[in-house]
Amino acid sequence: MTLTREDFVALDEQDVLAPFADDFSLPEGMIYLDGNSLGAMPKVAMARAKQVIENEWGVDLVKSWNKAGWFNIVEKLGDKVATLIGAKKGEVIYCDSTGLNVYKLVAVGLDIRSDRKKIVMEGSNFPTDNYMVQGLVKQLDKGHEIVFAEGSDILASITEDVAVVCLTHVHYKTGFLHNMKEITAKAHDVGALVVWDLCHSAGALPVDLNGCNVDMAVGCSYKYLNGGPGSQAFVFVAERHHGKAAQPLTGWWGHAEPFGFERNYRPRKDIRQFSTGTEPVVALSMMEIGLDIFMRADMNEIRKKSLKQTDLFIQLIEERLDGHGFSLATPKDHDSRGSQVSIHCENGFAIMQALIADNVIGDFRAPDIMRFGFTPLYVSYVNVWQAVESLKNIMETAAWKRDEFNQKNAVT
Ligand SMILES: Cc1ncc(COP(=O)(O)O)c(C=O)c1O
Repeated sequence: MTLTREDFVALDEQDVLAPFADDFSLPEGMIYLDGNSLGAMPKVAMARAKQVIENEWGVDLVKSWNKAGWFNIVEKLGDKVATLIGAKKGEVIYCDSTGLNVYKLVAVGLDIRSDRKKIVMEGSNFPTDNYMVQGLVKQLDKGHEIVFAEGSDILASITEDVAVVCLTHVHYKTGFLHNMKEITAKAHDVGALVVWDLCHSAGALPVDLNGCNVDMAVGCSYKYLNGGPGSQAFVFVAERHHGKAAQPLTGWWGHAEPFGFERNYRPRKDIRQFSTGTEPVVALSMMEIGLDIFMRADMNEIRKKSLKQTDLFIQLIEERLDGHGFSLATPKDHDSRGSQVSIHCENGFAIMQALIADNVIGDFRAPDIMRFGFTPLYVSYVNVWQAVESLKNIMETAAWKRDEFNQKNAVT
């Protein structure tokens, strides 16, 4: 049956997650489908920033390390995100960026499996993960080799000489969702360890790290977790691996006794060993607001709405935009899809610029992918309809051909 706007209005009326939109500040009229790149700002962010800056920093100054809990905020936030990713209290900590944490975790994996030299990665993964491991291999200079594999070839590349499998759960470009349980089990069968990058899955879909017996994981908080631009990443290390090997960036926050000021490094034996040094407390305080919204939401409802919205978006594109040169890059199968829809189109860059000018915000990834992220806490069903209406209008009027939509900026 052909969909109409009324169908989307009706879905919004029944949507149990609809009230969460009030928690976020978005400009009037904007249809924001880029929460897979930078999440929306929680409304209370400004008040919280004012409190941290004016009181905790401005009045209490250095006393706030204890009084306001600054020193332990990295674990406090870790315990909160743990509930969204199937981890236990004490297995997750916030620190540094995703890339830096990939470096640390793969280093630890190679240390634990020091008799092996191979690391399996996906060549088409977001490049920083691969770049960081290439840097690590060079620095270690012990003859490690990265084996790049894609999609269905990954399982076959996990052989008995592999030390670490390091993959991203949901592919940044296509939205393809790997089978975490199957890949982790295969890695363990051959004696390898796994490191999962959850940048596009934490806050986007239920993740069960311990249920899948995952060894280590990282993830950012500026996308689906709405932690703010450039916010810190998190690190998960299963309790069974704590104390087995020290991460290589041996700063004082990971020392067994940071305020003992000993001359030599002595690693802690818990998750805190994965932190490096003084963290940006103001930014971490913003992240807590994003996480606190999730503490009130049901991840299963989020997944249900995300799949419904992405299904409907795909259906509308197929029904209303046939013949415009679009082809789906994202799997239709729910078990293989994250919370985004990616579309191949030769003129994707200019079309995306025209959409953005019409207040429908997605992004473009070279060479030809238009990405639309669906964040059920603040995207309505009517937004899905409106986005496709805008796209239809741009295609039918050929508005995307205008010069202004064909100029490249540094960030696409
Ligand atoms: C899968 C993945 N890993 C890592 C990153 C970025 O890492 P960092 O925050 O260290 O720049 C991104 C950014 O979009 C990503 O998609």
